[in-house]
Amino acid sequence: MNTLFATDYSIVFNKNAFPVLNHFLDENKYSKIFILVDENTSELCLPEFLPHLSTEIPFEIIEIESGEIHKNIQTCTEIWSVLTELGADRKSIILNLGGGVITDLGGFIAATFKRGIDFINIPTTLLAMVDASVGGKNGVDIGVLKNQIGTITNPKMVVIETEFLSTLPQRQMRSGLAEMLKHGLIADQEYWNLFQDLSQLDLSDLDALIHKAIVIKNQIVQQDPTENGIRKALNFGHTLGHAIESYFLENHTKSALLHGEAIAVGMILESYLSLEQNLIHPENYLQIKNTLKSLFGTVEISDNDRNSICELLIHDKKNEYGKVQFVLLDGIGNVKLNQEVLTTVIMSAFEDYKS
Ligand code: GLY
Repeated sequence: MNTLFATDYSIVFNKNAFPVLNHFLDENKYSKIFILVDENTSELCLPEFLPHLSTEIPFEIIEIESGEIHKNIQTCTEIWSVLTELGADRKSIILNLGGGVITDLGGFIAATFKRGIDFINIPTTLLAMVDASVGGKNGVDIGVLKNQIGTITNPKMVVIETEFLSTLPQRQMRSGLAEMLKHGLIADQEYWNLFQDLSQLDLSDLDALIHKAIVIKNQIVQQDPTENGIRKALNFGHTLGHAIESYFLENHTKSALLHGEAIAVGMILESYLSLEQNLIHPENYLQIKNTLKSLFGTVEISDNDRNSICELLIHDKKNEYGKVQFVLLDGIGNVKLNQEVLTTVIMSAFEDYKS
């Protein structure tokens, strides 16, 4: 699969990936390499990765506990301290080996340590491959509120090795699929159509589907790296999706949803909003709802839940002047940005989602 070029870094795939990484590390004469992992990637991915790392540069491994609840400033403080104790300097580089928590957190740590050191993302989950590792967004949560603190700082390279997915649980794979479907809905109807008959989908095509998802994301980010316009399209499904994810995280009577699971609900709800604004046809809406429900099922959301979820919308990062701004579909494969929607319509979206 072809290497992709972003503004100032490359995204390398499978057999090309590790030789290019090794060459890059040596060419840039880094003083030390820090490999950031969590408990899962330490056990399952690090043993796969280390034999490919061929360099004279000394390296250290920094391991954190797994899970979104550790994506916070306290974990950053601990890692900044460890980097200091281990003698990291401005010529050090961090390799983020993990899912979205590791690439978001590691990117933020690198972007801020000594005012910025280099980092490379080596995503090991589908979600991190097709979304989190590409485009330079990094950050941490405040409590259950997602990604409230962070920067947009590009990695020096993104290394996609799809072999890592062989150890990924089915539920995590599905979570990543949600972002791939989103890329089709916002920018490429043909790509979306590929997912209409999952029984016809050959999993040996997965690498090509991943590559295409990254092509779509990369094209959008390159047009608008700092998210003043079209990059907001990537937030389709995330306004309500993030609020749902946060609500399920903070509510101890509920099991937490994976990011893609919450975003799948958000995409159905925000497609309903698009329908109500006459931006998509009823048959488009039904197709989106049926496709996503057949993959993700229906999450139980009571009337009380939805009121609390709507209260969380005030924290959405796209809000302007205190107003919630949605990205809505404008047909399949196109979007309309900065759309305000009446609360009554949002409530109807939740009502329709149940059916
Ligand atoms: N995950 C959305 C973005 O990178 O803009």
